[in-house]
Amino acid sequence: MQKQTLLYQGKAKSVYQTDHPERVIIHYNDDATAGNGAKHDIITDKGILNNHISALLYEQLNQAGIPTHFHQRLNEREQLCDKVQIIPLEVITRNIIAGSMAKRLGFEEGQEPPNTIFELCYKNDTLGDPLINDDHAVALKAATYEQLDTIYELTSQINQLLVALFAACGVRLIDFKLEFGINSQGNIVLADEISPDTCRLWDSQSQEKLDKDRFRRNLDGLTLTQAYQEILNRLQQFKEQV
Ligand code: TMP
Repeated sequence: MQKQTLLYQGKAKSVYQTDHPERVIIHYNDDATAGNGAKHDIITDKGILNNHISALLYEQLNQAGIPTHFHQRLNEREQLCDKVQIIPLEVITRNIIAGSMAKRLGFEEGQEPPNTIFELCYKNDTLGDPLINDDHAVALKAATYEQLDTIYELTSQINQLLVALFAACGVRLIDFKLEFGINSQGNIVLADEISPDTCRLWDSQSQEKLDKDRFRRNLDGLTLTQAYQEILNRLQQFKEQV
């Protein structure tokens, strides 16, 4: 598959057209940002680790029958995916309360709520990706109510699969962000990366943070790449066992 023109330049990834009209190549770089770009750094090899981790997770989701954009990892930094029109929503799932929800609602981080919490944010850098509800999403024409039903159903299935997968690796899936797109057949599919950049992942025993909070919060101890490498090692061990 030949890489052609740059279609989209994100903060941590670039998307290229290929010689196949319905396929793109996604390139993972080493940029790390937080606070809507307020904090920026280059973390050597982060893109390699995230490409690998995201590919392993997508392989599991594809095998479980979740419709996704992912085809295959091509090399250290690139993967082949379906070309999709991204729905401008970030869908956040919270199994344990942490991050912005803890701050906004006065919860102590690490509390387990009686329910799983789903949130929507409107993908808009100028507005700072504001938290919205379903009615806002429909008013913004980001999605229809029917599409939101599909998105929530898929998100719930993905959550169950990923919680079990990470638990088998000795990792708690605290929360995560998903994005969805519409493919050339008009179907909603899971898109974008799933990695320690987009998930909170805590070691089941020590509760050590193995995700981007190490960068966001300047945590001492493990470096970001050591934490991400640990996640990758455990996922690879899991893959070899099954
Ligand atoms: P939050 O607690 O900052 O709202 O983040 C919830 C989860 O979503 C966390 O795992 C990080 C992820 N996330 C992203 O991947 N991208 C984003 O832009 C935001 C706001 C959160």
